[in-house]
Amino acid sequence: KKVGIIGCPFNGGQHRNIGVEKGPKKLMEFGLIEQLEELEWGVEFDGHHKLNELRPAEDPNIGKLKKPLYVSRVAETVSKAVESHLKRKQVALTLGGDHSLALGTVSGTLSVYPDACLIWVDAHADINTPETTKSGNLHGCPVSFLLGIAGKVPGFEWVNKILSPDRIAYIGLRDVETSEKKILKQLGIKAFSMHEVDKYGIGKVVEMALDAVNPGRTRPIHLSFDVDALDPTVAPSTGTPVRGGLTFREGHYICEAIHETGCLVSVDMMEVAVPDHEIYPDIDDSQVFATVTVGLSLIRCCLGETLL
Ligand code: ARG
Ligand code: MN
Ligand code: MN
Ligand code: MN
Repeated sequence: KKVGIIGCPFNGGQHRNIGVEKGPKKLMEFGLIEQLEELEWGVEFDGHHKLNELRPAEDPNIGKLKKPLYVSRVAETVSKAVESHLKRKQVALTLGGDHSLALGTVSGTLSVYPDACLIWVDAHADINTPETTKSGNLHGCPVSFLLGIAGKVPGFEWVNKILSPDRIAYIGLRDVETSEKKILKQLGIKAFSMHEVDKYGIGKVVEMALDAVNPGRTRPIHLSFDVDALDPTVAPSTGTPVRGGLTFREGHYICEAIHETGCLVSVDMMEVAVPDHEIYPDIDDSQVFATVTVGLSLIRCCLGETLL
């Protein structure tokens, strides 16, 4: 069994200077390869992708969308990287970086596994369209592109692997814009917010999410995990923290249960930030340490680590 690690130091899908592009390097420095080898995985890692080089000289806003060409080029590159690891029968593990990268990772997964389903674990729905986004940050929009509801946006013509709305389920939502709530309703997308986690418990929620998108547990699963799904007390070092999130164990349970299906082919660990002390004095080393180590242990659970 082999896993391919795709390091994506990228922050172009959001506007904060919080160091979300430094997450991948930190995750690696904290021993990811050794930890996966300990779980008996063969690991392929060909260095972090040099995504900066893809930054165009000119990249004017398209409507509200910021850095559209940069985000599109990066996502296309990442999509090809995911595709290449999956084609070689590896599990693809993508380290972010901001969540706009998932436009690439999920597209890559769908091109190798057209019947794959998507579990999106996040405080946010990231389903704004170019029309509905207020911030213009593309990390708030990848799902709309994946569903084919973003309309025609110059530069994004390569996005043609369309995810059906009945193949995505959300877990952990608690900061969803009105425009996004409308889209979720209209398309009938299965979404388990923190309200449902409180009501049913995480065990039932994961079961219901899998029943919705993968009833026979036969379809390949792509798990896109935004670390801000966790409560900020658990994962404080991220760009858009929101109170009232998943506990440490709830986050891990999701990963363990998805591993147990045996269907997991592609995992994203996104939005882990490593800020400069000068710019963000409120985030100290211990908070960065907590966030990076929880990211690592979630990844290990996805890849089979168990408590016993
Ligand atoms: N909904 C907000 C927006 O569209 C926040 C999105 C945050 N996304 C994330 N991947 N952290 O800008
Ligand atoms: Mn590679
Ligand atoms: Mn988020
Ligand atoms: Mn997100």
